[in-house]
This record gives sequence, structure tokens and C-alpha cells, in this order.
Amino acid sequence: MKRLAVVLAAGKGKRMKSKLYKVLHPVCGKPMVAHVLDAVKQINCERSVVIVGHGAETVKAYLGERAEYALQSEQLGTGHAVSQAEPLIGSEKGITIVICGDTPLVTPETLENLIAHHEAEGAAVSILTASMPDPTGYGRIIRGEDGGVLKIVEQKDGNAEELAVQEINTGTYCFDNELLFAALKNVDNNNAQGEFYLTDCVPILREQGKRIAAYETKDLSESIGVNDRVALSDAEQFMRERLAKKHMLNGVTIIDKASTYIGADVEIGSDTILYPGTILKGNTMIGEDCTIGPNTEIENSTVGNGTIIRQSVASEVKVGDRVNVGPFAYLRPGTELADEVKVGDFVELKNAKIGHGSKVPHLSYVGDAEVGSGVNIGCGAITANYDGYNKFKTIIEDDVFIGSNSNLIAPVRVGKGAYVVAGSTITSDVGESDLAIARARQENKAGYADKIRAKAKAIKEQNK
Ligand code: UD1
Ligand code: CA
Repeated sequence: MKRLAVVLAAGKGKRMKSKLYKVLHPVCGKPMVAHVLDAVKQINCERSVVIVGHGAETVKAYLGERAEYALQSEQLGTGHAVSQAEPLIGSEKGITIVICGDTPLVTPETLENLIAHHEAEGAAVSILTASMPDPTGYGRIIRGEDGGVLKIVEQKDGNAEELAVQEINTGTYCFDNELLFAALKNVDNNNAQGEFYLTDCVPILREQGKRIAAYETKDLSESIGVNDRVALSDAEQFMRERLAKKHMLNGVTIIDKASTYIGADVEIGSDTILYPGTILKGNTMIGEDCTIGPNTEIENSTVGNGTIIRQSVASEVKVGDRVNVGPFAYLRPGTELADEVKVGDFVELKNAKIGHGSKVPHLSYVGDAEVGSGVNIGCGAITANYDGYNKFKTIIEDDVFIGSNSNLIAPVRVGKGAYVVAGSTITSDVGESDLAIARARQENKAGYADKIRAKAKAIKEQNK
């Protein structure tokens, strides 16, 4: 059967009280609608239509070509929303997963189970349901005496008896595509909210003698529909737990789950250990046998195997194998560390490529630089790369020694094997194997220390 998907994402999400459109609120760093779209992609839906309305341009810009879009310019309800997809997919033959953009925890496995159930039952629609200890706010599944689903009743429309039902509609369904769009034509807005409810397709199809099925998920987290920040926080907790478990089962050691944050798209190799306070965000890939943390934040970066990063921050960087970073290093965008590099304490690197085995062990700033292999940059040495208007490049070739507290005033090149003496301010290029010394010559004045103290004391007395 051809698989299609309709993702509802046109609502404003008033209850979020936010400037950001609801479905773009992230859960574990990824917008809710992207979680939903990923799930339908994973079950191989051939076409996915996202219904956009509030923030349509922002949602489309974010999802790009991953989906087709139908605009719902006025939010007249979930049924009206799905109708907007009719010009695109109304004549397709197949099954359609309808899913809300605010249910980020629904898994591909559950969608597969829902479809299998739908096909086994030969149903016109199958509803993904859950039994909630507190069903408040959700549509309730009303079953007849034979146990079959009669209808779905919204919180605002239900009587006391209906609202006592704990089985709820998760907002995810599997429909026969043609029957879906035919049924939608008969949905009215005669209800407490004056909306065209998608859920009204259930009694409509039933009256036509069609089979209605329900598949209950036992994982209650999957049914969370995020309408406010309280539910957003619940969704975050569940997703966090789920991601941590996935990584642990893949061989990652997480010392303290509660203080470790792993983004939805992060990849981590086996035998890597995450210490407390580790935050891995965006498209980050960490290799095997690494030690990350404590208190380390890494975003949109790639880290090789056997690397150690402690108490540090890295964003948009590439780190090789067996690299040692920190404590307290700041790796800024464009930085690339080759294998076996050492970056020590209080070092900031920006747009700096550091070659194999080179060391920047303490108190340095290296920006807009190319550093070869086997280089040692002494304590406190810096590149002066910025004149207030322009950025300039520093090139340090292989096997160079930069003495402590040197200033390299860019643009400047230090040739292979050169030696820059500590405390030098280098303003012009240093040739291969040359020694550069650029500091005032020292002069010692014998016994002058006592004189200068006596003079200072006298001034203090005078000013009393
Ligand atoms: C809906 C279901 C309810 C279910 C719950 C599960 C209906 C009538 N009710 O209620 O049975 O228990 O989801 O979370 O379907 N949307 C549009 N256009 C609209 C209205 C909504 O695109 O005109 C989108 C929203 O952006 C949201 C989704 O549809 O992503 C669900 O809408 P929402 O208003 O949150 O529905 P609920 O009241 O939660
Ligand atoms: Ca909702």
C-alpha cells in the first residue's frame, strides 16, 4: 500500500504564550514538527504534506524540501486543516498517516504497529489511543457495547460520563486516503469550539458501515500533545530519557543521566564516557573511546576517537583522534584540530587549524591561523589578528617553537623549524630555521632597588 502523511502544523499554539510558532519549539534541540516528520520519513511515507498556517513561511523555511506544503490560511479546526491537503493527495490510493505537529514523541515503531493493525483489521480508519491516568484536555475514545469505537469527544464537548473515560485520542491516525477526503466533506462545525473536527470522521465513516479500529500504545509518553510549556517540559524529559537509553544501549557510558543533555541528532561511538554536565547539541558526532566532560558543551562539531575534552566549550569545530582539550578551553567556529593535538587550559582558538601533534597548552589566543605539525605554542602566546576593522592571518609552519608570551602580529608567517624567543613581538615574517628575538635588551642597575624604595617612601610621607 502506498503510504502518505499529513502533518498538522498550522495552529498558533496560543497556550505556549510564545513568539515562536508552536511546532517550532524544540524538544532535545529539534523542533517538534521535525521529530514528527522524521518519524513519518522513517516508515517510508512517499509523500508528506505539512499543513502550515501561523508562521507558514518560518515553518517552510525550516523544513525546506523535506515535505510538500498546503496552506490553511484560517485555522478552522483539525478537519479543515486536513482538507487543505486534498488538492495535493486527495486522489491518491493508499493509506494516510495523519499526525499532529505537536506530538514529538510518537515513534516510527508505533506508526508501523498502527499500520499493521489497520491493515489486519481492514479498517477505514485506525486511531492511535492511550490510557491516561489524567486524560484532561484530550479527546476521549467512546466505545459502544461491542467494544468498537463510536466517536471521539473533545474535552469541551463531553458530558461527565464521557469525560470520565481514560482512553484518549493521541491525534495520530491511519486512514484509507480516499475515504478520509470523502468523509471530511461531511464534517460540520456544530460543536463547543465552532471548529471542523477531524475526529468527526470517525462517526461519519461508522455510519457508512466502515470499520473503525483503535490501536493502543502502552508508552504514555508517545501520546503527549504539547499545548503549553508544562507539556513541553514533560516531552523534553521523556525524549531525554529515551535518547540517553538509546546511547547507553549503543555502548556509551553516561555517568549522570540527569545532568547530561544529548540533542536528538547527536551520534556517539561506543566506549565513550560522558561525565556530568555534558551538553551535546545540533549535528554533533563524537567518536569511540572518548572522554567528554565534566561540564562541557559541544555544538555542531565532529570529534574523532580516543579524544578527551574536559570543562570546555566547542562550537562548529573538527577535532581529530587522541586529542586532549581542556580544562577550560574555548574552541570557536572554524577550528580544526588534527590528531594528537593538545589544547590546554584557558586557550581560545577561533578559525585556527592546528596540525598533527602540535601543542597550545596554556593561556593562549590563536585566531585566523594555520599551524603546522609538531609546533609548540608557549604559555601566553597570542596572535593579534584584528585591527578593529580587518582580520589577518598567521601562518606557523611545522616544528616551530613559539616562546612564552610572544605576540604574533598578523599578517605574519613563521617558517618551518623557526624559533621565536619568549616575550617577542613578531611583526614581520621569520624565515625557515631562523631565530627571532624581538624584545628590548635587559639592563640591570646595581643596588638601585633600595634607592627607588626610599624615594617612594618619601613621597608617601609628604602626601600624609
Ligand atoms: C486534538 C484532537 C484531540 C486529541 C489531541 C491530541 C481534534 C478535534 N482534537 O486536540 O482529540 O486528543 O489533538 O493531542 O482533532 N491545527 C491546524 N489547524 C487547525 C487546528 C489545529 O493545523 O485549524 C494543528 C495544530 O497546529 C496542532 C494540531 O493540529 O499541531 C492539533 O491541534 P490542537 O489545537 O492542539 O488540538 P487539540 O485540542 O490538542
Ligand atoms: Ca494538541
